[in-house]
Amino acid sequence: MLDCLNRLLLAAEDLVETSDGALETVQEAAAALGGPERLANVGYLVASVLFILGIKGMTHPRTAVRGNMLGALGMLIAVVVTLIKSGAPQWVWISGMLAGTAGGLFLALKVQMTQMPQLVALFNGFGGIASVLVAGAEVLRLAATPEDEGTAGLFAGLTGLIGAVTFTGSLVAAGKLQELKQFKKPWSFGGQQLANAVMVGIGVLLCISMADGTAWEFFPIVLLSLVLGVLLTSPIGGADMPVVIALLNSYSGLAAAAAGFVINNNVLIIAGSLVGASGLILTSIMCKAMNRSLANVLFAKLEPAADGPSADEVYAGKIKATSPEELAMLLDGVQRVIIIPGYGLAVAQAQHTVRELANLLESRGVTVEYAIHPVAGRMPGHMNVLLAEADVPYDQLKEMDEINPTFSQCDVAIVIGANDVVNPVANTDPTSPIAGMPVLNVGDARTVVVVKRSLSPGFAGIPNPLFAADNCLMMFGDGKKAMVELVAALKEA
Ligand code: TAP
Repeated sequence: MLDCLNRLLLAAEDLVETSDGALETVQEAAAALGGPERLANVGYLVASVLFILGIKGMTHPRTAVRGNMLGALGMLIAVVVTLIKSGAPQWVWISGMLAGTAGGLFLALKVQMTQMPQLVALFNGFGGIASVLVAGAEVLRLAATPEDEGTAGLFAGLTGLIGAVTFTGSLVAAGKLQELKQFKKPWSFGGQQLANAVMVGIGVLLCISMADGTAWEFFPIVLLSLVLGVLLTSPIGGADMPVVIALLNSYSGLAAAAAGFVINNNVLIIAGSLVGASGLILTSIMCKAMNRSLANVLFAKLEPAADGPSADEVYAGKIKATSPEELAMLLDGVQRVIIIPGYGLAVAQAQHTVRELANLLESRGVTVEYAIHPVAGRMPGHMNVLLAEADVPYDQLKEMDEINPTFSQCDVAIVIGANDVVNPVANTDPTSPIAGMPVLNVGDARTVVVVKRSLSPGFAGIPNPLFAADNCLMMFGDGKKAMVELVAALKEA
């Protein structure tokens, strides 16, 4: 970490020493193009193309890293040409970029993979408040210099409304994902839906009234929306959080696009629209995976968790524990094994040992596949990222729809740190908080082995009757430790 910061400081010194020359070159390029305004527009066009290529790269794990780099390069170009266009003193933008780079570097090195969803929530929130500040600055500038051309108008109001909702909504969402006790429990009061609807109505009316050129409405819109963000997110709990994060991501993009109209900035409009649209598509994919309609999410009409059967009622006298040695014997002579990873695999960081287990089984002629549930873990694609880190071949990762009909031809299904995504009550109990959520039918396998530390529930907080099924064995322990012991037992057997 310190080494990285040192390198960053050295790079900064170099940049300051050589920036005069670099700046001269850029200024020459700007002059050749007909001024900084033109240079900015060319830069914005290049940045927009890079954003789109970046998103395209994200569509496959093999090209995802390159896609990420292209997006980052696009953002760097957009930031640099904007700063040149603004004519801000060199020291201002160099120190701003260094501060941003240091912050990004710190987060990238410090934040654990399991904390990524919270970080994404915070990024969404920062995006929202940044848009509010941009629009607010323009509103104040126009109020101070009425002779200037331009009107903040409807889009400034919309930026205030969407951006402020995104900011506080994302803070609450990050708090819930971090399991802070102030946010963990869903919170609401009687008539909250009505209060939310009234606040949205007032916000929209104030935005419309800004369309005639007045500006004072911006500040009540922002205050109202800051409260609205908290009220909209607080009642939502547990298993619905991924949808909320995807939706807030989309909101942050829409706020940026609206801010782009306020200050007439093309790249903000394009990048904001890309984020807004991709966030909405992701929201819709997540809705399907969590069995929530989009309207249901938009208006936060989410049912509170019903009082289902207690853990004692589900488990008492029905749990059969197993050991790595017993499982090694069970795996002797099997033909097909399916591994089902879940959030606990990420917590235990067991992906490399799981790969080792798979290699060992494959060397004995066993077919090994991985069943990937779209919301296994705590963020979209969580399991794919983890397994890719351990170099698991992509063709062994099977999506839920593809693998579900084949569980009945599986000798042993090994569930590692997954719970809700293999909970059959989703299909059998319409009052359960995960009712209707598509789940992996692991119970159809000849034998199921569940690796987890205890009988504690998963994210949705409900017991899992799979653990008490006749064909299910529980292997209690930390995911990684259990896998290490299983690999050792298999080698000995
Ligand atoms: P969960 O249902 O949350 O279950 C994870 C299980 O892992 C827990 O029951 C826990 O049991 C076990 N575990 C924790 N640490 C472990 C360790 N070190 N070793 C072994 N096991 C460990 O996870 P899931 O099945 O992946 O389902 C995901 C849930 O999260 C769904 O409800 C989903 O809706 C929700 N969610 C998903 C997302 C996205 S987009 N993926 C985002 C937010 C929420 P023990 O404590 O007994 O070990």
